[in-house]
Amino acid sequence: MRGQRSAPREATYEAPPNIALVKYWGMRDRTLAVPFNSSLSVTLGRFRSRTHVRFDPDLSDDRVEINGAPAVGGPRDGVVHFLDRVRDLAGRTDRASVVSDNNFPTASGLASSASGFAALAGAASRAAGLRLSSRALSQLARFGSGSASRSVFGGFVEWQAGHRRDGSDCYARPLFSEDHWPELVDIVVFVEGAPVKEVRSADAMQSSVATSPLYGRRIAGVPRRLTAIRGAIARRDPSRLFPLVMEECDNFREVCETTRPSLDYLTSTSRAVLGEVRAINREAGRSVAGYTHDAGAHVHVFTLERDARRVRGRLAHLSGVRSTLVVRPGPGGHPVVRATRPARRTSASRRRGR
Ligand code: DP6
Repeated sequence: MRGQRSAPREATYEAPPNIALVKYWGMRDRTLAVPFNSSLSVTLGRFRSRTHVRFDPDLSDDRVEINGAPAVGGPRDGVVHFLDRVRDLAGRTDRASVVSDNNFPTASGLASSASGFAALAGAASRAAGLRLSSRALSQLARFGSGSASRSVFGGFVEWQAGHRRDGSDCYARPLFSEDHWPELVDIVVFVEGAPVKEVRSADAMQSSVATSPLYGRRIAGVPRRLTAIRGAIARRDPSRLFPLVMEECDNFREVCETTRPSLDYLTSTSRAVLGEVRAINREAGRSVAGYTHDAGAHVHVFTLERDARRVRGRLAHLSGVRSTLVVRPGPGGHPVVRATRPARRTSASRRRGR
């Protein structure tokens, strides 16, 4: 098969972003993209990346278009390396055209690498003629972006680090479906002036591994927090979940801040949001909400439906908050069977008014 010319093949796949409640931060094996610790995330409804891949023996080079513009530099290289991996797996040599778009602005700060690489993994593997299980897809997606391994699944997802040296037991698996806890909502708080991420998380996290004096203690502490967070979700217990999620986020942030050079992802507004959530809980004398953030300035605040209006109102009024959006757990990645391009209208369909 390898090196043979074959007919063009194409596929489209959609995948959502996710927000980690237990963070992935550091790889024990960078070549295999195997993390030091297992992580746990919520797949976000409403948002998605949609990617169309077409392998074509007539192309002389890979073509990559993201959100309507040709990709250049790092983003293009990331996609091309990923395609090389898929070509290797499938025994193909032909180049591909990749067209990807997000239904959320990339500059919004929502992690587009998770949804983007999960969508690319789904579309490229199918277009290349591979029929991968969801588990195998999550194993493939992590080579684009670690967090992408979790976006293959919906609801609450755990990416297990595994123990084997070859990384074969390192994959994501669904824990609870998106319908498991209907009252749980995520208020995404978008702050003004969020800096554009200059260093990829995959590089930044390796500086934390090498230089943060708190890294070793973090890795020792994550399994306990992960078990407790998994249990709190299983029992739908906000009074356990919210404090644990904040503890985990604070620990992640301390590791970033003690990395040399220091990694500071928040703005003063992000910090005010964290302070406001603490104040809401203090005033209520109970765990009304819990915050978390990734390697970016926007903040995700988890709360229950019945408190969402009040919490959202408090956060939306803070100076420097650009907007807030309520998001719920959603389904995982899936193939898009119909063509992405609008079907041509035939005279018969025009007569039917379609
Ligand atoms: C802080 O796997 O998304 O969001 O592709 O370089 O962005 P990049 O790396 P990625 O790193 C995720 C880091 C995190 C935590 C998490 O999502 O688990």
